[in-house]
Amino acid sequence: MTETSTAPDRDGPHGTELNNTGRDNVEPDNAAPDNAGPDNAGLASLSTLNGSGPLELSSADGVRLLTETATALAEHWDRVPDAPVAPGGQITAEVREWLSGYDLSSPRPFEEVLGDVLAALRRWIVHTTHPRYFGLFNPTPTWWGMAGDLVTAGANPQLAAYSHAPAAVEMERHVLRLIARRLGLPEQTEGSFTSGGAEANLTAVIVALTRQFGSFTDSGVRGLAGDPVLYASAESHLAWIKIAQMTGLGRGAVRLVPVDSRHRLDVAALRRMYAEDIAAGKAPFLLIGTAGTTGGGAIDPLPEMVDLAREWGVHLHVDAAWAGAIGLSDRLRPLLAGIEAADSVTVDAHKWLSAPMGAGMFLTPHPASLSDSFAVATAYMPAQVEGAADPYSTTVQWSRRFIGLKVFLALAVAGERAHAEQIERDVRLGELLADRLAEDGWLRINDTPLPVVCVVHPAADATGAQTSADWHAAVASRVVASGRAWVSLVRLAGRPAVRICLTSHRTRAADIEEVVAALAAARDETPLAR
Ligand SMILES: Cc1ncc(COP(=O)(O)O)c(C=O)c1O
Repeated sequence: MTETSTAPDRDGPHGTELNNTGRDNVEPDNAAPDNAGPDNAGLASLSTLNGSGPLELSSADGVRLLTETATALAEHWDRVPDAPVAPGGQITAEVREWLSGYDLSSPRPFEEVLGDVLAALRRWIVHTTHPRYFGLFNPTPTWWGMAGDLVTAGANPQLAAYSHAPAAVEMERHVLRLIARRLGLPEQTEGSFTSGGAEANLTAVIVALTRQFGSFTDSGVRGLAGDPVLYASAESHLAWIKIAQMTGLGRGAVRLVPVDSRHRLDVAALRRMYAEDIAAGKAPFLLIGTAGTTGGGAIDPLPEMVDLAREWGVHLHVDAAWAGAIGLSDRLRPLLAGIEAADSVTVDAHKWLSAPMGAGMFLTPHPASLSDSFAVATAYMPAQVEGAADPYSTTVQWSRRFIGLKVFLALAVAGERAHAEQIERDVRLGELLADRLAEDGWLRINDTPLPVVCVVHPAADATGAQTSADWHAAVASRVVASGRAWVSLVRLAGRPAVRICLTSHRTRAADIEEVVAALAAARDETPLAR
């Protein structure tokens, strides 16, 4: 990579003379100030200040630049399926070496930088847009979602105060209400878009603490009579541990409840742990059900957990970050039975709703608890609009991006039904995957209707936890190194397995055959330690 900070001007994509940044050469960008002197050296003159600033482009140049970007992105998109799903080898040094060519001090041609960046992304990222990325819920985004993110960036509404962006706040609310309705949550349910599931779950803990303990708002955990504890299954997403630390509860407040043979929270064990905690003077305040565990897609026994939460008087949160999307499908929605009685719910649009990264959702049928949790008074924020809450005082964030547009646009254009059909299609492909792996001698160890399949090779499985983990990890690595697919090692209740999860709307039946073949090849190449 060579320095091109002195790259000459060249023709733009449509024959217009563009300078390095992609703008028409209509203004002398760096004209000498006409009254430069010792006191104002380096400052622009008044006449220059009436011209465009150094970061401004004409709309025509902007369109050319974005058109070029869309074309390059589409090319990238078309090339990804033929490229290895993941980069190989130790790439950090290579990436840093490449970046050392960018001192970021002087301009370069847009087209060159864009091409360079896309080439870097093609080489040095795991392609979540690949039809054979069978990974960690990161979706292939829809084009409508991408367009939504572009409009968000360009119109750049600020959603902190309602009055700054009523159209944006209401569009988000419209989507949140649809999801709430599909999950069967009560009419008064409100919520917010979040950066992802972890922020939505953080919101849940803050709201639960606020609802359960009157003194929490002012005194935090210091003012509580007993040590607060929360319960989630041992297979839940462990952002809970970080959240416990961040909220001042401390990691020790998280009680990880053992799971049953289907990797669902074991209600009998939960009852025992709760009784022990009460006897020890603890203050249980939150019960968390996971609908679609990260590792194996288990759905906790939500109806029983609802009953227990009511009996104990604790807040019930359902983390449906991944599987909450099945609420859109009439056929699959019954799998979430019980969620309608939750005190709060997490659903991520950037998982199974195929939105570009950075789109979680938090919902609660206790809207007053949102302002109780996050309200703050300031003189410098715009006055509140009657009957419309300001998101900065009902959510974790302050300045707030229009996260929900990518979801609104995709739902408005493709429709709720198309999203449900995609989810049902993924479930069908997941069944095909499970069948093909079984035919090929793999043993499935998770039990879920959702499209995540965790399999072991029976002979390796019998060798003991560590040897089995090493062998299954080696197989997963071989598949990834082959470039044919991305799969991973998982441990379900400690038992190592290879995890294959459908995450891309580009995946077809032929891709299932390919990953099965890649796994078979890796299995054949990986010797079993005896
Ligand atoms: C069940 C569950 N909850 C929460 C999260 C965290 O979501 P995010 O990575 O969007 O913050 C994940 C991530 O995979 C998850 O699977």
